[in-house]
Amino acid sequence: MLEICIIGTGRVGSQLIRVLSHTNGVKITQIYNRTKIKLKAFESIAPTTSEISDLKSANLALIAVKDDAIAPLISSIASIFPIIAHTSGSLGLQKHAQNNAVFYPLQSFSQKEIDFNQVPLCLEADNRQTLDTIENLAKKISTQVYNVTTEQRKYLHLAAVFANNFTNQMYAMAQKICQANNLDFEILHPLIQETATKIKTTPAIEAQTGPALRQDTQTMQRHLKLLSTPEEKEIYRLLSRAIQNTHKL
Ligand SMILES: NC(=O)c1ccc[n+]([C@@H]2O[C@H](COP(=O)([O-])OP(=O)(O)OC[C@H]3O[C@@H](n4cnc5c(N)ncnc54)[C@H](OP(=O)(O)O)[C@@H]3O)[C@@H](O)[C@H]2O)c1
Repeated sequence: MLEICIIGTGRVGSQLIRVLSHTNGVKITQIYNRTKIKLKAFESIAPTTSEISDLKSANLALIAVKDDAIAPLISSIASIFPIIAHTSGSLGLQKHAQNNAVFYPLQSFSQKEIDFNQVPLCLEADNRQTLDTIENLAKKISTQVYNVTTEQRKYLHLAAVFANNFTNQMYAMAQKICQANNLDFEILHPLIQETATKIKTTPAIEAQTGPALRQDTQTMQRHLKLLSTPEEKEIYRLLSRAIQNTHKL
C-alpha cells in the first residue's frame, strides 16, 4: 500500500484526491491546504490539516500548490517525507527533499472532472528507486506515462501554453464577438472540433486556412475595422503576420 499525503487542494490537488481515493494499492493518509475552509470538501476522504506542524509521515508527499510556493514548502516538510514530488510543468526537479520527483499531469485542469486515464503523466526523479515508485503510482491512474527531463519539460510546458492557454484566449475572443453580435457560440463548435481532430493526423502547417494564408488583404482590412479595441487589432495583425511568415515560400 502506497501512503500518500496530498499538499494543496486547488485544481490539480482536488482532481488527484478524487482519482487517488479510488485507486487500489493507494491510501491518502492526509490532506493539507494553507486555507482551512478549502479542506471542508475533503474531510470524508482523509484527515485534513492547514498546519504544517500537523503533517505526519507517509511514503510520498504530492505537492500541488502554486509554482512560487513549491520550493519553500518542500524545504519546510523535507524531513517528514521520504519522497516529495511536485506537479509543476515549469519547475525543475527540486533538491531539498530526501528523494525528489516530478509528477506533472499534462492537461488543463479547471473545475471540470477529468478522466485521468487519458492524462499524460510526465515523470522525473533524482534516483531510480524513486522513479520506480512514482512510475508504479502513475501507471495505476493513467495509460500515458512518460519519463521527461527537466529540460524537456520546460519546453513541453511552453508548447502547452501555446496549444492550450493561447488557444483558449482565442476562444474567449470569439465568444465575445459572438455575444456582442447576438450569435450563438455553438455555431462555431463543429469548426473548433474539426480543428482539434485534424491536428492529430495533419501537420499544423498543412491544416492552416483563412484570409492571412490567402493574402486576402481587403478581407483582413474589413476584419480589422470590425474589431473594437487596439489590443484586439494588434492580436489580429500579429497572428496574421505570423501565419504569413510561417507560410513564406
Ligand atoms: N491547473 C492546471 O491545469 C495544471 C496542470 C498541470 C500542472 N499544474 C501545476 O499544479 C500546481 C497547482 O496548480 P493549480 O492549477 O492546481 O493551482 P490552483 O488551483 O491555483 O491552487 C493553488 C494551490 O496552491 C496553494 N498555495 C498558493 N500559495 C501558497 C503558499 N504561499 N503556500 C502554500 N500553499 C499555497 C493554494 O492554497 P490556498 O487554497 O490556501 O490558496 C492552492 O491549494 C502548480 O504547480 C501548477 O503548475 C497545474
